Amino acid sequence: MDGMNERIGIGLVGLGTVGGAFARLIEENGELLHRRYGVRVELVRVGVARLGRPRQVAAALLVQGYEKVLADPRVDVVVELMGGVKQPRELITAALRAGKHVITGNKALIAEHGEELLTLAHRHGVQFRFEASVCGGIPVIKVIRESLSANRIRSLTGIVNGTTNYILTRMTESHASFSDALAEAQERGFAEADPTMDVDGTDAVQKMAILCSLAFGGWCSYRDALWQGIEGVTAKEVEFAAMSGFVFKLVAMGRVIDGMISVAVFPALVAAGHPLAAVRDEFNAVMIDSDFQGPSVLIGRGAGDRPSASSVAADLADLLAGSAPAGPAPGRSELYPSEQLTFRYFFHFVTENRPGIWAQVTGLLAEHEINIESVHQKWEDPDQPSDLYVLVDPVAEHRARAALAAISAAPGIFPESHFYRILPDQQVGA
Ligand code: HSE
Repeated sequence: MDGMNERIGIGLVGLGTVGGAFARLIEENGELLHRRYGVRVELVRVGVARLGRPRQVAAALLVQGYEKVLADPRVDVVVELMGGVKQPRELITAALRAGKHVITGNKALIAEHGEELLTLAHRHGVQFRFEASVCGGIPVIKVIRESLSANRIRSLTGIVNGTTNYILTRMTESHASFSDALAEAQERGFAEADPTMDVDGTDAVQKMAILCSLAFGGWCSYRDALWQGIEGVTAKEVEFAAMSGFVFKLVAMGRVIDGMISVAVFPALVAAGHPLAAVRDEFNAVMIDSDFQGPSVLIGRGAGDRPSASSVAADLADLLAGSAPAGPAPGRSELYPSEQLTFRYFFHFVTENRPGIWAQVTGLLAEHEINIESVHQKWEDPDQPSDLYVLVDPVAEHRARAALAAISAAPGIFPESHFYRILPDQQVGA
């Protein structure tokens, strides 16, 4: 770094699990960074919400809030790990305006305000880095922005939320119900006490929108994406999918279609031979397909204090090395309309058990020009509703939705009928 060849002062704001792990990393591996980059990394200020509690850093470093961190002239780089959106945005805006580099792991902040903050960083000639905001310790942002910077990226397909992957893995492998699998994920520390934003897909769609903004060169709003969580997935659907050679995964997809970026997150049936089917438990993976490199898969722990601290420190190391990746072009990208996306679908109709139900369902699918691949029915008790599973050939989303609405409204079909999308096959190394 120009003019900073001797030392670099870090102002850390937030000393929670990731902040604490980052402070530990600097303590344990600071010497290694010094040897590798010739720069001594010094933690000079640590801002916390409340003073007076025992902390793992020297008491002399601690200050309340972030103002004193910003005001300290020894702070060259602000590391924001406080969480939330409003305060981090104020802090980072002030830090960039003051000419300080900023590193954050704050996914919600980047998803909401990444464009504004990156533009501000450019204007002030400083770096704003956020590797830890997507997939914890996996260097996916670096690969997209730097390693593949001379490729055209064609698509991103990933499992970018560990909580839901853990839940779906337990449902598949232990036949657990959704609620039992969620309770186990919480007990084992893989799910937050309030897992709403993981389970409903918000976390995943924010991550994929960030990756698409970087890969395809225009900021995407996750709010306009196709986005659905795993709350409705049942143990018997998981069991049926397994019998048919699929595993359920919360899939995040990004690609360019007709010059527009498409961002989508949904629970999908993934063929057992697909590279993402083997990604188990709390692990994340992102498959990147680009024109010269072809498909590659990055896999690893996508959350947790040490993996996330590793990414924060990697951003710091890149700052020390002086590399400054290009950002996406300023300006919003209009998203491809999700109702035009095309998938194979897996319909699950809940029906009365009487003559004529199949004829009605298949007739209405035909009316919507949907071609059936296979039909399976399962019922244990003739007095109970039966489960009718129908796999269909690729069709546009709007047609699948229209067919579902028409069939759900037909006599003898219960409204809890729904569909899942089937992830297209993709091979790596085939
Ligand atoms: N809660 C997220 C997950 C990690 O389960 O993957 C933070 O984005």
